[in-house]
Amino acid sequence: MVGKIPSAFIDDLLNRCDIVDLINNRIPLKKAGKDYQACCPFHDEKTPSFTVSQDKQFYHCFGCNAHGSAIGFLMDYDNMSFVEAIEELAHQAGVEVPREGGQNAGSDCRPLYAALEQAAHYYREQLRRHPQASRAITYLKQRGLSGEIARDFNIGYAPPGWDNLIKHQGHDTHSIKQLRESGMTLESENRCYDRFRDRIMFPIRDYRGRTVGFGGRILGDEKPKYLNSPETPVFHKGRELYGLYEAHKALRKIKRLLVVEGYMDVAALAQFGIRYAVATLGTATTADHLERIFRTTAEVIFCFDGDRAGREAGWKALNTTLPLMREGREARFLFLPDGEDPDTLIRKEGTEIFEQRIQNATPLSQFLFDKLAEQVDTSNLDGRARLADLAKPLIAKLPQGVFHEMMLKALSELVGLEPTHLNTQPTTSSNTAIRRRTPHNLQPMTPVRLAITLLLKQPDLAQLPNLPTQWKDLKKPGISLLTELLETIQETPSLATNKGALFERWRGREEARHLSKLANTNLPTQEYTVEFRDALTHLQKQLEEQSQDLLLEQYKEGSITEEQYKERLRQQYPGK
Ligand code: UTP
Ligand code: MN
Repeated sequence: MVGKIPSAFIDDLLNRCDIVDLINNRIPLKKAGKDYQACCPFHDEKTPSFTVSQDKQFYHCFGCNAHGSAIGFLMDYDNMSFVEAIEELAHQAGVEVPREGGQNAGSDCRPLYAALEQAAHYYREQLRRHPQASRAITYLKQRGLSGEIARDFNIGYAPPGWDNLIKHQGHDTHSIKQLRESGMTLESENRCYDRFRDRIMFPIRDYRGRTVGFGGRILGDEKPKYLNSPETPVFHKGRELYGLYEAHKALRKIKRLLVVEGYMDVAALAQFGIRYAVATLGTATTADHLERIFRTTAEVIFCFDGDRAGREAGWKALNTTLPLMREGREARFLFLPDGEDPDTLIRKEGTEIFEQRIQNATPLSQFLFDKLAEQVDTSNLDGRARLADLAKPLIAKLPQGVFHEMMLKALSELVGLEPTHLNTQPTTSSNTAIRRRTPHNLQPMTPVRLAITLLLKQPDLAQLPNLPTQWKDLKKPGISLLTELLETIQETPSLATNKGALFERWRGREEARHLSKLANTNLPTQEYTVEFRDALTHLQKQLEEQSQDLLLEQYKEGSITEEQYKERLRQQYPGK
């Protein structure tokens, strides 16, 4: 288990980096007053409503309400995960990302990346230089792979022999250890030898272009045809997608991703101009793969062989995809003619016809219903009821939202039943996803909400002298969030001037939603300081009332005498 990244580190990181630089490197910003502006990269617009504040280290779009810290921006704009975004910022700042707990929690992977990079370079050189390389080149030519593609994918050659790589870069115990840990060598009877021998080498690169592993193809028909790097600290088959980095490099914007099965398929498709293909590495598509895919694009097409195994793999992919089918996302399925894979097919029929196939790929909904309909006789009522039974648990896997509703509707039409009879989940929140996008002032502005909103708009209010504090004992919704927000800023004063870092403290928590809703609430006032004190004073009064009520209650119950009641009232409120 890798430990958590300490929040103090995240605060510090967000203080070191400048969100204006970060965003300006991706979309040019114009100075507007003390802030910076651009047309929002998260929605279509003609006049700029996307604002970046250097003071607050925060971005906000008044059009679509997108907002967040530098971390949030990297996640949304560069499609990184939370940890990746932090690693990226740390990398830019030249610092290491520490982890909480565990001795090996923060183990440094840089030597492994370096060893793998060196190996990739070595294999590439061997494809040019090694006396036996002509065989490899002949093989690649015979498969029709162009020199340009070999270069783009950094394809290389592991020459025959037991210890070429070890001789090349295993100079001391350190480098030998790194070769072993990065999966490049094997050990048997206390002898260490190269894992990849006499194979075409496909380096597998992560989203940042770092080589994390290899796939190696034999030149002939021997088994195993492909050899892959084992799982290592830097390589996880269930997460990496071959070709994703290359797609990012080739395309400015990735509109869709085509998921295929093999290395050669990715390379051949790229050669024929389809630069958006990625391959899973000899495994089924995992939820992790899909999350990475959907962070890159909203449209995915799974490509499989047309045979039975291909259909089964497709069905499996559908099941993995269902829980991730949030609004706006699209998944389709492309089954190729028997005996063909994308590599053979695109060479045979060319780009245009292959792209036609992609255009005509089967939508997820149709694949789902068609597949179920194969199992029942839909010409009679019983069969249709059975179809509904089969479909319901699958549809239930979909997140609540428009797509879920549409699937229910489609099912209802198919089986001739009202959607209400089919529903498997409470539908109360069926359109929260849409509602969440529109700013709202619909909730009444209570003093708690007002105080939180003010703090979010101007976090340094937390540092005002002599703020009342007893209200924290109030038993009311929102009090604990207000207390936490206030105390967080007071404990870490740097958060008062770094709204981005402040928001990060709530990432992933239920309360984050409330916070961003309140942060987007318009306030009719500019008198933040006065309003803030007023709100807290108001809460203070509510506390007094609450404790008076409590005393009265106790007196009525008989747990205190009239004397005690009056005495305590006097103690608490000397004026009364
Ligand atoms: P295929 O057997 O479909 O091979 O395996 P392919 O991609 O068409 O390869 P070529 O065209 O014969 O060169 C699909 C994928 O399954 C994994 C590899 O990732 C491969 O690209 N695989 C296959 C292995 O990991 N090991 C194997 O022995 C075979
Ligand atoms: Mn093939």
